[in-house]
Amino acid sequence: MSTASILRSLVVAVLATTTPLAAQDLSLTEITEAWLMGPHSDYRAPSFTHWNEDGEVPTACAACHSETGMLDWLGADDSPPLTVEHPGTINTVIGCASCHVSEAEALEAVPFPAGMTLGGLGASATCTMCHQGRASTDRVLSATEGMDLDTVVPELGFINVHYGVAAAVMHGADVRGGFQYPGLGYASRFAHVPSAGTCVACHEPHTTEVETEGCIACHQGVSDVTSIRTRHQDFDGDGATSGGIRDEIAGLHARLYEAILTYAREVAGTPIGYAPDSFPYFFADSDGDGAIGPGEAIFPNRYANWTPRLLMAAYNYQVVANDQGAWVHNPAYALQLLHDSVVSLADRAQVDTEGLVRP
Ligand code: HEC
Ligand code: HEC
Ligand code: HEC
Ligand code: HEC
Ligand code: HEC
Repeated sequence: MSTASILRSLVVAVLATTTPLAAQDLSLTEITEAWLMGPHSDYRAPSFTHWNEDGEVPTACAACHSETGMLDWLGADDSPPLTVEHPGTINTVIGCASCHVSEAEALEAVPFPAGMTLGGLGASATCTMCHQGRASTDRVLSATEGMDLDTVVPELGFINVHYGVAAAVMHGADVRGGFQYPGLGYASRFAHVPSAGTCVACHEPHTTEVETEGCIACHQGVSDVTSIRTRHQDFDGDGATSGGIRDEIAGLHARLYEAILTYAREVAGTPIGYAPDSFPYFFADSDGDGAIGPGEAIFPNRYANWTPRLLMAAYNYQVVANDQGAWVHNPAYALQLLHDSVVSLADRAQVDTEGLVRP
């Protein structure tokens, strides 16, 4: 971002901020430094450089990946709100204006991929818009509609929920960002407590860091927030309940991975593997060694033997992988998605469900 555009953003921010600056705890300089330390100003990140060679950010991507796109989505550029009319400018980070133009400050309600709109979001509305993911239960159901669950369908491709999907996970069944198996009930928004129940109650909006001292005041007896747990069942069936709820999610996530491998081998007929850093993440494990090496993690080798059942489970695997804060954003929802995916795969493959508990 150029100095000129940072300055422009600053002016916009100062003009648009409703609280008188004198009454604020932090100076503008401190806020700007905080923002510069955070992820939203990192102009080298793939989130802001991915389109550099193309010269513009496509309208489908621009709202969350360029400041001009966000302003367009907000309707702050005199275009209608909630849609993006123009491709975004490359290499513009999420500057002050993205969250502080008057349209952003006034934003209260945000539509989600499954079609519903959530209101009353206050200062967390902008976060919710960008961190909501791009797919849902509904999208997976419509892609697989009318298909036999266990027949390989060559036209099926992996459906990626997208990245940093904290808002989709936090709002749970209210927005159906995970794949919710028909007929089962899912946890809705994790309300937690009023002082730690919204994005900006926990994340300082400029660094995006979480102030954890307040957590320990309530969750006494833990030295690290990742050790927090208030539910005491052994959800992942490993016999241990001493660690944080995060350990249960990690344990169940690993069990789902094993289940996906088993099902792909036994039912889909082609071994599968996951490479977290290579799009589209699931690849044919052509040498069958149980790992996806650099030679296998290439687009032409993407997994192509999807059955609807496998796609649903893989979708949920990625939802939990792409919210590293799922353990605090909505632990019950994450555990339910993982649990139900393992159980579904076990309907057809030799998958062990011993000891699993559904929250
Ligand atoms: C609703 C908002 C939203 C839309 C629309 C969106 N993205 Fe993203 N995208 C994000 C967020 C948020 C992240 C960063 C998450 C993080 O790092 O926690 C991200 C990250 C990425 C990354 C970086 C992934 C990585 O491994 O670091 C790529 C590449 C990307 N998106 C591509 C796209 C493309 C291509 C489109 C359009 C087809 C698109 N995005 C549309 C929100 C969005
Ligand atoms: C990702 C969104 C986002 C970005 C980017 C952002 N802010 Fe903020 N800012 C917020 C939110 C949210 C608040 C808190 C509002 C509230 O709690 O009502 C805030 C608060 C503020 C405040 C009031 C501080 C206080 O103590 O109440 C100022 C001033 C401010 N921001 C300036 C800036 C400047 C300058 C930049 C760019 C360097 C910037 N912001 C970038 C979201 C953002
Ligand atoms: C205009 C879209 C947009 C808005 C608004 C936005 N984010 Fe982001 N956020 C992103 C993108 C894109 C990234 C990835 C940036 C990068 O890789 O450096 C990101 C990264 C993050 C990260 C770091 C994720 C990681 O992988 O380490 C956190 C935490 C975060 N945002 C929280 C928030 C919070 C809290 C708010 C609201 C105050 C917010 N974001 C508002 C798009 C947005
Ligand atoms: C109860 C406090 C709390 C609330 C509420 C909360 N977060 Fe988080 N969030 C955390 C913690 C703790 C982490 C993990 C931080 C870490 O591992 O460094 C985290 C992680 C994240 C990450 C990084 C995930 C990754 O993949 O690395 C993003 C992005 C994020 N939160 C965005 C949001 C957004 C957007 C909201 C609102 C929809 C939100 N958070 C609500 C506490 C919270
Ligand atoms: C005002 C007290 C209070 C504060 C502050 C607080 N929590 Fe909580 N937390 C609770 C309560 C009460 C529950 C149980 C809520 C429920 O199950 O509905 C809980 C539940 C949780 C859970 C889910 C545990 C499980 O086993 O499902 C996690 C994780 C968590 N808190 C993390 C945090 C983090 C991280 C922070 C700081 C950013 C924080 N909490 C701040 C009171 C608090």
